[in-house]
Amino acid sequence: MIRPVDVLLEFLEAEQARGVSHVHLDQGARDGLRQLQNQARPVAKTAPPKPAARVEMPVETPPPPIALVPTNLTIQGSSRAEKIASLRRQAETWAPARALGTLRETMIFSTGNPEARIMLISEAPGYQEEKERQPFVGPAGQKLNDILKVMGLSREEVYLANIVKFRPATPKQTINNRRPTPEEMTACMPFLRAEISIIQPQCIIALGETTAEGLLGLSGHISTMRGSWHDFEGTPVRVTYHPSHLLQTSAGNHTKRLLWEDMLSVMEKIDLTISDKQRGYFLPKA
Ligand code: URA
Repeated sequence: MIRPVDVLLEFLEAEQARGVSHVHLDQGARDGLRQLQNQARPVAKTAPPKPAARVEMPVETPPPPIALVPTNLTIQGSSRAEKIASLRRQAETWAPARALGTLRETMIFSTGNPEARIMLISEAPGYQEEKERQPFVGPAGQKLNDILKVMGLSREEVYLANIVKFRPATPKQTINNRRPTPEEMTACMPFLRAEISIIQPQCIIALGETTAEGLLGLSGHISTMRGSWHDFEGTPVRVTYHPSHLLQTSAGNHTKRLLWEDMLSVMEKIDLTISDKQRGYFLPKA
């Protein structure tokens, strides 16, 4: 059966292919979409009947147009490093990110080994990353280096990427950072998708809840996302805590062990040798 949502997606993709970047939804179209959404919502079987209530509908102001993110990146070069370099050049002036007006100017691209077997993905650069134009060089980056070291790896062996290639802006911003919004992640996702297809890692580590939301469309708490394998277009993904979580005073050995168990699973997945000592890290003392 052809679902109405498939017809809508097909229409939007055709518009995008024609070069249309925005569509305006008038009142009729919005009502139609709402009706489809209500039809698709599962009906709670045990819900008690609600007393009839008079609902005051607010006067609606027209919503902003839906932006369709173009995916027309040009990948040039023959080696992986050359292809990644061609993406980096295009990221500098990436119009969908600039058009949002919510991201800062400086572009901070991914770093690491284009031949890596493991790709680590996070959400967006922060103050220190912007200052040095390098991902993961601030306190969370130091933590990440420590994690890689206990895995027997270095930064030079892995590939490190953020979904959003610009630091999210805030009013009167100094050293404070904020998480990227879904729109900011959507605007930059074509780069990450292209990077994954070039690097072809054996396994991806998604750091933190926001990254898992942007990359995998998951929602909820990190505790429900970690501890199992997910999939991004055929590549296995392990979600774990963002390293900045370990910097919080509340993060004790239990959290460190959970993160470490995710890393052990990654090491097993790509057949890295694991010593007995490594297997025992952060276990409670007997
Ligand atoms: N936090 C992130 O999510 N990415 C970085 O590059 C640094 C900190």
